[in-house]
Amino acid sequence: MTSSPTAQEIKAIFNQIAPVYDTLNDGLSFGFHRIWKSMTVKWSNPNPNAIALDLCCGSGYLTFLLAKQVTQGQVFGVDFSSQLLEIAKEKESTKSFLKPIQWLEADVLHLPFPPNHFDCATMGYGLRNVTDISHCFQEIRRVLKPKAKVAILDFHKPANDFIANSQKWYLDNIVVNLADFLGAKNEYAYIYPSLERFPNDTKQIQLALEAGYSEAIHYPLLGGIMGVLLLTK
Ligand SMILES: C[S@@+](CC[C@H](N)C(=O)[O-])C[C@H]1O[C@@H](n2cnc3c(N)ncnc32)[C@H](O)[C@@H]1O
Repeated sequence: MTSSPTAQEIKAIFNQIAPVYDTLNDGLSFGFHRIWKSMTVKWSNPNPNAIALDLCCGSGYLTFLLAKQVTQGQVFGVDFSSQLLEIAKEKESTKSFLKPIQWLEADVLHLPFPPNHFDCATMGYGLRNVTDISHCFQEIRRVLKPKAKVAILDFHKPANDFIANSQKWYLDNIVVNLADFLGAKNEYAYIYPSLERFPNDTKQIQLALEAGYSEAIHYPLLGGIMGVLLLTK
């Protein structure tokens, strides 16, 4: 798949990889995704009474981290993959210490919430997959309360050529081969092309400011192979 996939194709990819998604995530990031997701939650500035949103929540790891902080409020997890949401719900049934999470099957480009509803929001590895980033920024901004923050974690193309080439080699070889072993090669071969199309930190900041955010900062992680874009409404 070389051209940009449609939303339907992206949904099909995630439904297909749902059974192996958590295993691959841990294996391929050496568990680092857990640290990056904790940082993302912290940057979103949740308080115990917050109404909080995790966008593109998938199997829910980041949503659960958010719920650990939001002990009195309400956490929502939104994703359009019914299969990943089922896994999130199963996992939630083993976490009785958390307040129940509201899971919604919906497109993050058309959020089923009123304006000015959320105190904070997070998104992990979702932005690279949406078909219209500017529209996504606007839609998230619409549902955030004034001054609320959204922290967006995703892959990033490093400026340093050596790190960028190493990242490409890792994604093209290790990731695709491990995914192949678990029967999900084609779906994981999709990561690097999606990263090639993904705007860099400067462009992300520009798009966010054009969408109306008052502040946009990009924090590079691990030599710039990942990053968190922190936006304030
Ligand atoms: C790489 S996964 C990330 C899942 C989870 N946030 C994590 O970090 O493990 C990307 C998720 O985005 C979801 N997604 C992509 N585009 C979407 C859209 N337009 N609306 C809702 N979910 C979307 C996919 O279904 C998938 O669960």
